[in-house]
Amino acid sequence: MQKPKADSIDVKVDSILKIMTLEEKVGQMNQYNGFWDVTGPSPEGGNAEKKYEDLRKGRVGSMLTVRGTEQVRAVQKIVVEESRLGIPLIIGFDVIHGYKTLSPIPLAEAASWDLEAIQKSASVAASEASASGINWTFAPMVDISRDPRWGRVMEGAGEDPYLGSKIAIARVHGFQGEDLAAVNTIAATAKHFAGYGFVEAGREYNKADIGSVTLHNIVLPPFKAAEEAGVKTFMNGFNELNGIPVTGSDYLLRNLLKNKWGFKGFVISDWASIGEMTTHGYAKDLAHAAEMGVKAGVDMDMESYSYIDELVNLVETGKVDVALIDDAVRRILRVKFELGLFDDPYKYCDPEREKNVIGSKENQEAVLDMAKKSIVLLKNNNKLLPLKKKGQKIAVIGPLADDNNSVLGSWRIASKDSSGISVLDGLKQYTGNDLMFEKGADLLTNEPTFINELAFNTTDTSGFEKAINVARNSDVVILVLGEHGFQSGEGRSRTNLDLPGVQQELMEKIYEANKNVVLVLNNGRPLVLNWAANHIPAIVETWHLGTQTGNAVAQVLYGDYNPSGKLPMTFPRNVGQIPIYYSHKNTGRPVDPQPGANMVFWSHYSDVESSPLFPFGYGLSYTSFNYSNLNVEKDSYALNEEVQVSVELSNTGDYDGKEVVQLYIRDLFAKIVRPVRELKGFQLVELKKGESKTIKFSLTSKELGYYDQDGNFTVEPGEYEIFVGTDSNASLKTHFILKE
Ligand code: BGC
Repeated sequence: MQKPKADSIDVKVDSILKIMTLEEKVGQMNQYNGFWDVTGPSPEGGNAEKKYEDLRKGRVGSMLTVRGTEQVRAVQKIVVEESRLGIPLIIGFDVIHGYKTLSPIPLAEAASWDLEAIQKSASVAASEASASGINWTFAPMVDISRDPRWGRVMEGAGEDPYLGSKIAIARVHGFQGEDLAAVNTIAATAKHFAGYGFVEAGREYNKADIGSVTLHNIVLPPFKAAEEAGVKTFMNGFNELNGIPVTGSDYLLRNLLKNKWGFKGFVISDWASIGEMTTHGYAKDLAHAAEMGVKAGVDMDMESYSYIDELVNLVETGKVDVALIDDAVRRILRVKFELGLFDDPYKYCDPEREKNVIGSKENQEAVLDMAKKSIVLLKNNNKLLPLKKKGQKIAVIGPLADDNNSVLGSWRIASKDSSGISVLDGLKQYTGNDLMFEKGADLLTNEPTFINELAFNTTDTSGFEKAINVARNSDVVILVLGEHGFQSGEGRSRTNLDLPGVQQELMEKIYEANKNVVLVLNNGRPLVLNWAANHIPAIVETWHLGTQTGNAVAQVLYGDYNPSGKLPMTFPRNVGQIPIYYSHKNTGRPVDPQPGANMVFWSHYSDVESSPLFPFGYGLSYTSFNYSNLNVEKDSYALNEEVQVSVELSNTGDYDGKEVVQLYIRDLFAKIVRPVRELKGFQLVELKKGESKTIKFSLTSKELGYYDQDGNFTVEPGEYEIFVGTDSNASLKTHFILKE
């Protein structure tokens, strides 16, 4: 099929707009959820009846959470055949890290620093979701966050705007592909615009106070990158930003996104966030909230019922200009055209495709590949890893070891519970060894779900004894501990980032019995792991890796895959250090002026080292890499010249391996103080053992500049340092001057 041209779409959109009543226009701006089986009776009772009625009247532009070809066809049919204009619905869903076949949680994927793999993972998710009737995902979440207390860090790409921007682009391209009208691509959403990752103290739905320099340099870049990558929709956040709920922020939505950046797609509210502007204390009532939402630039209302109930009246009483409604409807219809929904509203409803695509061998292989690439080796003393394939007695211990549900992580509404491969099951495939399993303790005392609080086992240690015995009688213990998959995600803020329940106690007891412990961590955010880092010889960060978790972990532990992941977020020494991130400011007193003199007047804590436990960008390999000959081609450059940097990387260890070569800059003095380091380049390099390669980077003004207080991009002449190495503490250093 010929791809429709944008201008011809605009002509078509305008001709539809001309024949729409005001109520039908407002209907396009209304999104309802449909959790029920639309072909059967509804748990929403009368509410559902009202929704059906509204579908018939053309008062609904989109549904979310309806899924499966049969269900989607059923709602689409009502609208197409029974409403006056038959404008098809756009069907949204939270396809966050896969649809039914699950990839690692997004934070884990970010640890791969592998943009190709991340893009592929999003395209697999798009192909499964589209095969199930869905044509729009509420992803990627591109919120930068430096606060692991906030549960939603699992949904993002971590703390850094440069890495976050690259990953945002990869995900948008992965979901949307090259042709949005293709049957296996779906529209993406950059969310949550903006500042949600900076909610105060990591408390969910809280306010965010963000100065303009941080806003423009840290928070906004991944959104801008997503916009430039052609993302079709934006979702606003739940939070207020500097006193204004972002749902009602005309500064963010209308001035910046739509006017300054020129965004042509549409903006959806977050779930009921228009209505919540009253609870925030910003709107007087629902009508007032609807007025502020539409004026600010929210084009579609998710589940507030505010547009559908209030907008017609607001226009008729002259409070809202119909031009704003027309603009919103135009934006929404344009995306529906681009998806090809007007050509065939049922194009995503092919049961045959649904059967063949979902869970296919190819998809399983793709998520396994992504899972292996997401694993980060944090510690490997005495080369305890990789394990030997024969002749080792292995004990597998821990409440999460045999869990095929937790491994799936959070935000996986469409997938079947317990459909993952547990770590134990993955390890069992390596049958050359004697394998014993003891859980040791339960993590939870209730049934975990996406929406309910988890209850932790904090007292029952009755299983310890058996686990200790098994540990004693083994050569190596694989201890699988961490957070339950539902312990991170929306509504999952924590003040304590230790291992929950009795896991710390279990770990100490097992270590007492056998020092050869490999700690396999499952978690959706950075944890506080001081004791483990000081005692346990080998630590592997495996996050929540999705459907293929066990296979990925086993391949890494047994050396069939050499890990190359790097942390996308700093791991603190304690919660009091948060927010802690590599790209901090120097302060006026960064170092102890008289080491050993016990003087306090410098920037430090008196009770803990300032450094993190594991820095951003950190991760080991079974092989070792050496960096040398860092060179910048010239001593000085003109403002618009490209700065050429090279470094030599050698694989000096015993295995072939991959390394993420990271380049950081420091602008030594500027009109606005710059951070001590900023990531400005990285490359994933594969080297055979003994091999060396020269790696080249070029830095343009895009990398060297920054945004000023007003959000204007500027590049200043001055002196820059460059650091290249294996993590954000890279010590190889050079410098250059940028001339006027
Ligand atoms: C979340 C969004 C999500 C929406 C729809 C909200 O609670 O904040 O990220 O897309 O629900 O499920």
